[in-house]
Amino acid sequence: MELDRPAIGLDEAYALRTPEDNRRLYAKWAATYESEFVDVKKYRYPKAIAELFSEVVPQSGFDRFVDIGTGTGLAGYFLSALRPQIVIDGIDISPEMLAQARGKLRSDGQQVYADLQERDLTQNVITPGAPYDALLSSGTFTHGHLGPGAIGNLIPLVRSGGWFVIGINNEHFAALDFAKEFDNLSVLGVITQPKIELIDVYEVGSVHHGDQARVAIFTRK
Ligand SMILES: C[S@@+](CC[C@H](N)C(=O)[O-])C[C@H]1O[C@@H](n2cnc3c(N)ncnc32)[C@H](O)[C@@H]1O
Repeated sequence: MELDRPAIGLDEAYALRTPEDNRRLYAKWAATYESEFVDVKKYRYPKAIAELFSEVVPQSGFDRFVDIGTGTGLAGYFLSALRPQIVIDGIDISPEMLAQARGKLRSDGQQVYADLQERDLTQNVITPGAPYDALLSSGTFTHGHLGPGAIGNLIPLVRSGGWFVIGINNEHFAALDFAKEFDNLSVLGVITQPKIELIDVYEVGSVHHGDQARVAIFTRK
C-alpha cells in the first residue's frame, strides 16, 4: 500500500518525552497502529505477553485482570482467547487508543474489555476495578513512555498474592536501571524478587526481528 504520508513508527514513539507527547502521538496513530505498524512490522509483543501471562498466572482463583497501556487492546484480545472466562479491564493515557480497544470482540461477540479507564500511569492510578488478581503490560515500558518510577504506581492495582507480568524494552531496562527499582520494592517486602524472561518483540521476517523485551514476573506480597 502506498501512503501519502510517512507511516508513524518507532522513531517517533521512542523520541517522546512527556505524557502529553504520548497523548498527542497516539491520538494520530490510533487508527493506523495495527494496519501500519503491528501488521507491517510483524509485532508479536502483545501476543507473547498474553501467552506468557497465561502460562504463569494460575487458573484457579485468578480471573480479574488489568492491561496496563492497553493501546488498541491486542494483549486482552489474545488473552481472552486463551482464557475465555476472564474479566479484563484496561488503562491507557490515550482516549483514541482506548476507543480502538473498545471495538475488540471475543469469539462469543462480547467486548474483550469490561471497563476502559483513561489514566496517566506516571501518576497514582487507583481505578474503580482495583485491586485485580493480576496485571499485564506490553510495549508501554519503553523509551519515551514509562520508566521504573511508574512501577510503584501499579502496585496498589493488584491484590496481595496477585501477579504482575510486565514487558520492558531491553535497552530501556538497562539504561534506566529497572533492576534497582525491583530490588528496592522486593527489599521493602512489597513484591517478590522478579523472575526475568526474554521474549522476541517481532516475528521472524520483520525488519526489527532480534529486538527483545525483558518480562518481569512477580507477585505482590
Ligand atoms: C506501543 S503502545 C502499546 C500498546 C499495546 N499494549 C500493544 O502492545 O500493542 C504504548 C501505549 O502506552 C500508552 N501510554 C504511553 N504513556 C502512557 C502513560 N503515561 N500512561 C498511560 N498510558 C501510556 C500509549 O497511549 C499507548 O497506547
